[in-house]
Amino acid sequence: MDAQRSLLQTPRRHSRWRIAGFAAAQRLAQVCGGRAWYRWRHLHPKRWVLRLETLWVPDWPARLEGLRVLQLSDFHAGPFLRGEALTPLVAATERQAPDLIALTGDFITDDWRDVQSIAPTLGALRSRYGSWAVFGNHDYRGRQEGTLAATLREAGIRVLLDATEPVADLPLWVTGLHDLEERRAGSLIDSQGEHDSEEATLRARLAALRSQQSAGSWELALCHHPIGAAALARPQTFAILAGHTHGRQMDLPGLRRLGPDHPGLQVRQFLDGEPASMLYVHRGVGVVGLPVRSRAPAEVLLLEVRRGPQARSASRFETLARWDALGSAGSRPPHAPLRETNRFGG
Ligand SMILES: [Fe+2]
Repeated sequence: MDAQRSLLQTPRRHSRWRIAGFAAAQRLAQVCGGRAWYRWRHLHPKRWVLRLETLWVPDWPARLEGLRVLQLSDFHAGPFLRGEALTPLVAATERQAPDLIALTGDFITDDWRDVQSIAPTLGALRSRYGSWAVFGNHDYRGRQEGTLAATLREAGIRVLLDATEPVADLPLWVTGLHDLEERRAGSLIDSQGEHDSEEATLRARLAALRSQQSAGSWELALCHHPIGAAALARPQTFAILAGHTHGRQMDLPGLRRLGPDHPGLQVRQFLDGEPASMLYVHRGVGVVGLPVRSRAPAEVLLLEVRRGPQARSASRFETLARWDALGSAGSRPPHAPLRETNRFGG
């Protein structure tokens, strides 16, 4: 369990030289038509995968029975993706009739202006209760996160940066955190936030947020970096949605170490060691570095929460269906499922 791994040991992972190398490769790929390639090769309607997950919660309230949460993450607008590539996705997600939509960060790669190309498309996503978003580490590039948040809000998306909001009159709140890497970089840490107390500062902030929530309500937590699950896990928080990993983007031997670990799906434990929240880590929509993915398809995650006798840790249902199978996914054999890995903190 990664309780031993301090929350905010989240490293600034790359050296200056490595970042320069990434930037050069990215620029070269862009000049060579990387955006068109990525759209054709990885964002074509037959390349998307829909990841269906059902979470069984023994004491789930009747008012929330069958809650459908649709998650998208890591768009990385810029060199390899612009809004028009997402248009088919909007139609496809509408067919899933989600109750709410979670967008878990990395809207851009480098330039905050690129959010303008995807915000209208994301704002067109329809659900019963609306869309909520958090920022990923890339969204702080250029320190224009205020403008970026305003652009998303203008598109009708609620942005949660260390904030919590109720969902209509339901016993349900959505909580979203600032990105943990950026918090560690210091810009988001208040004057008391010395490095050795960063984790305590985060936990205190989280406790303050949760004190705003109605008694007996449930929480859906959004946190770009999956390591935040260690602080977020508790029995009332039925799910923690994260991104950041891109499913390793190139999930091949020898290349996996280039990116962060991909926990995929994992039961998180509460402080007393009891199973508590379920962590879902999204493979993302866009890419960084090179416009390629291998064994890590761009995905949409649809989470349905139901009351059931099974413990949260025991029951898991996952089917992957390509977009052309939507609407008939239950009546035809699913494509070979991707194996969710669980290397993040065991
Ligand atoms: Fe990302």
